[in-house]
Amino acid sequence: MNPSRLLPISRQTLSTMTKKTTNIGVEKIITPLNSKKSQMNKRLSEDVELEKYIEEEFDRQKCGLELIASENFTSLGVMQCLGSVLTNKYSEGLPGRRYYGGNEIIDKIESLCINRALEAFDLNKEQWGVNVQPYSGSTANLAAYNGILNPHDRIMGLDLPSGGHLTHGFYTAKKKVSVTSIYYESLPYHIGVDGYIDYDRLEQDARNFKPKLIVCGYSAYPRDLDYERFRQIANINNSYLLCDMAHFSGLVAAKELKNPFEYCDFVTSTTHKTLRGPRAGLIFFKKEFEKQINESVFPGMQGGPHEHQIAALAFQLKEVKTDFFKTYIQQVKANAKQMGESLMSRGYKIISDGTENHLVLCDLKSKGITGSKIESICEYVNISLNKNSVPGDKSALSPGGIRIGSPALTTRGFKEKDFEKVVDFLDRTVKIALKIQEKSGKSLKKFKQEFKNYPELQILKKEINDFASTFEFYFD
Ligand SMILES: Cc1ncc(COP(=O)(O)O)c(C=O)c1O
Repeated sequence: MNPSRLLPISRQTLSTMTKKTTNIGVEKIITPLNSKKSQMNKRLSEDVELEKYIEEEFDRQKCGLELIASENFTSLGVMQCLGSVLTNKYSEGLPGRRYYGGNEIIDKIESLCINRALEAFDLNKEQWGVNVQPYSGSTANLAAYNGILNPHDRIMGLDLPSGGHLTHGFYTAKKKVSVTSIYYESLPYHIGVDGYIDYDRLEQDARNFKPKLIVCGYSAYPRDLDYERFRQIANINNSYLLCDMAHFSGLVAAKELKNPFEYCDFVTSTTHKTLRGPRAGLIFFKKEFEKQINESVFPGMQGGPHEHQIAALAFQLKEVKTDFFKTYIQQVKANAKQMGESLMSRGYKIISDGTENHLVLCDLKSKGITGSKIESICEYVNISLNKNSVPGDKSALSPGGIRIGSPALTTRGFKEKDFEKVVDFLDRTVKIALKIQEKSGKSLKKFKQEFKNYPELQILKKEINDFASTFEFYFD
């Protein structure tokens, strides 16, 4: 293939990428070989303001410690597909059945993606199909629900403060927060004080509520799921069972967690978390639901599919089948386990006393500080993580814990010993936070205002930046 057709990374750029430099930014990424300029093809470097912001974000990602459990660093091949001419094409419909002309090649790409998605999870093509068009995880879930439910049908999903996702039917006493709780009648199930899903209570509630759909899957739960039990509970009322494996699809593909396909009717996923692909969504369905699901995605919920995303996903799904990816996921798990153990050895409470997947939930109540404060001070020193509800929280607005994940830093080559160091940075940050809180009191605003008065935070930030910068980041 003529490399000049491959945007955005040119051969020339690839050579500059091998040089060690601390500040390789957008200009070098987006330099087509064809340097002819026209008003119609301005380059990013001509928008100085925007280019600068992207450069800044590049540096932030490279120099910080990324512990947000839902994030990852995707590969260059994925970014090449995202920046390719595929972004130009309209292709409403499915391969071979499009509403627009000119889709001969797009059809090949989308079919490749479909085949690779089924192969990535070892699915029998007679029994399972997949729609690769959802723009993202939320739209995948809504399209799946819309395909099989009528408005006001009943659903049950893990409550958001228990680790579920908004799209699993979340609402509060004051507000129907997610549209999934406006269109459907939703009753949440919960985790118990031990941090594990309370399956007995779910069964009891399901017997009374008689949901048409039970959703399993989570955004903040450190344990594997008992799909067999979910299936038994779903069978009581003939409910559909859908697993949203957005967070852990990489672990399922690598066979490092139980297989939801054995028990579920539908499996949805994002593709940018542990799967390391582009931001997109997937809906796997048992073949008998093919028409309902496909028609719900288009024309039901979406217009033209994003074929640049679909190509990027096809690229990543090829990697998912390799031993390399399996090793990556095993390291993700080992690193999360290490983080949990290192935190516990320093006196932190970990929900469920450990983890079986890629994330750890840390309860900060015994330390006497909120998740919001730790999130904000960590951001100040370039550690990215998020506040999270933990059992016993009185207010969802001020959760008592944090969620930390290993996928992104594992992509950068972090091993267990590096995660011990990460925990050391985290622990030092918490200790400074406690000192600041003694002065600022309860107010988050006053707490943040104090950061500038603590030079040790600047010293810590520099150490973190120096440490993080030594790890691989795209072109090193
Ligand atoms: C379990 C789960 N489902 C769905 C989503 C939504 O995905 P997106 O943000 O791509 O819409 C998320 C996102 O964090 C998630 O954790």
